[in-house]
Amino acid sequence: MPPWSVRMFHCLPGFRDFYPAQCAARNYIFEQWEQTALRFGFSRYDAPLLEPLELFKVKSGQEIVAQLFNFTDKGDREVALRPELTPSLARMVGAKSASLKKPVKWFCIGENFRYERPQKGRLRSHYQLNADILGEPGPWADAELIALCLEAFSVFGLTTEDICLRLSDRDLWIDFLACLGCKDERTLQVLAIIDKIERVERKKTIDDLRVHFGDAAEESLSKIDALINIRDLDDLRTFLFNQSSNVEIKDRLTFRLSQWKALLDRLDGLGLTPWIQIDLGIVRGLAYYTGFVFEVFEKSGRSRALAGGGRYDHLVKKLGYPDLPATGFGLGDVVLTDLLDEKKLLPDFTEAPDIYVVMGDEPERKAALGDIARLRTLGFSVEYALKDIAFGKQFKSAGQSGARLALIYGSSELAAGNVKIRDLSSGSEIDVPQKNVASALRKALAKAPEKK
Ligand code: HAM
Repeated sequence: MPPWSVRMFHCLPGFRDFYPAQCAARNYIFEQWEQTALRFGFSRYDAPLLEPLELFKVKSGQEIVAQLFNFTDKGDREVALRPELTPSLARMVGAKSASLKKPVKWFCIGENFRYERPQKGRLRSHYQLNADILGEPGPWADAELIALCLEAFSVFGLTTEDICLRLSDRDLWIDFLACLGCKDERTLQVLAIIDKIERVERKKTIDDLRVHFGDAAEESLSKIDALINIRDLDDLRTFLFNQSSNVEIKDRLTFRLSQWKALLDRLDGLGLTPWIQIDLGIVRGLAYYTGFVFEVFEKSGRSRALAGGGRYDHLVKKLGYPDLPATGFGLGDVVLTDLLDEKKLLPDFTEAPDIYVVMGDEPERKAALGDIARLRTLGFSVEYALKDIAFGKQFKSAGQSGARLALIYGSSELAAGNVKIRDLSSGSEIDVPQKNVASALRKALAKAPEKK
């Protein structure tokens, strides 16, 4: 490139620049998430962005491994930017398992990196609220997490008209696939096919199933379809009990369905039935999931999943730590922000100071700067012109700043020991003693209309 040419840089595909307006929207979402998780009694934690590659290779499953941002660091370590938080969390909790009060209820708001094809709702960097409960095997924990997940949407004003949580169960799938003659490691491979069923052509699904079911692929798919279309617990029971006469499988089904009843009862107790849809079409792409799993979708069905999670009872043990049942979810910011934008549920984030100070030359400038420093330590947001400009131009900037009040340091006011406060919407003015400026501003701000 010739030395005089100017090279333009853009952010990488699938990454976002957060200009102040987007940054304000993002931080608003994070604040709502944080307040919600705290109300549910969760504690905030954080984990490294860069982790040993092995942590994800072994624990996250094929799809995520194919999307890793990984490299060898200067110490010859194979490392990866985290694509998700769950393996790091399992490691952190596992390492201190003996001393942590159970159940562990932790949340994190952080960035994740996946080398996906950038498209609507899916980028190469995204943020997630993750909330997890470790150390509690029963459906109370699943119900509490689902409640938190839904609350993390409804705080923004989203309702059952907008979204629904599709609830499923990997354990039921494992037993059902066993009825179809599919066991062990093939189960995970078939679940990966079912995970994509809504997104790929039917012919491809049949071809993929043929590897596992041979000539029975189409027949197996129609049974899979039938299971996926069930929306009622009694229908689920009847359907599954008709699939096998094997006593062991029937005993397991009886237990799982009692867990379903318990979970649905608890969700009902929390008033959440209208948000929930039984939908075995959800199997989750990640390898570590065990029992109840779920995803949240926009009701129109147009967008990608807004959140996803479920039980991962064996992950902590698989990392070499004591056995610890666990369940959790991740809620992404990308689809949520699009949805809130579309539904006009994001507040106006125009930023403006409370007060814009207008000042003359010395000695007014010295008095003004001293007061500005003091007012800021008292919590007022204060701006002023960052160059020497005439009074008139300062007033113009005050108006453009969106401030509610102008605080004026003119020579005649200061000579009388005063400063002037002007309400920038009404234009009304009062002179107040300079020494009482803070309390006078507090009073004036209480009266002045909210800035836009
Ligand atoms: P996940 O389903 O892979 O689960 O991701 C959770 C959510 O993160 C998705 O529903 C979506 O909103 C968002 N998300 C994922 N990938 C992208 C992407 N490329 N671009 C934009 N948003 C995305 C997990 O990550 C699990 N670790 C969640 C979990 C926590 N399970 C148990 N505890």
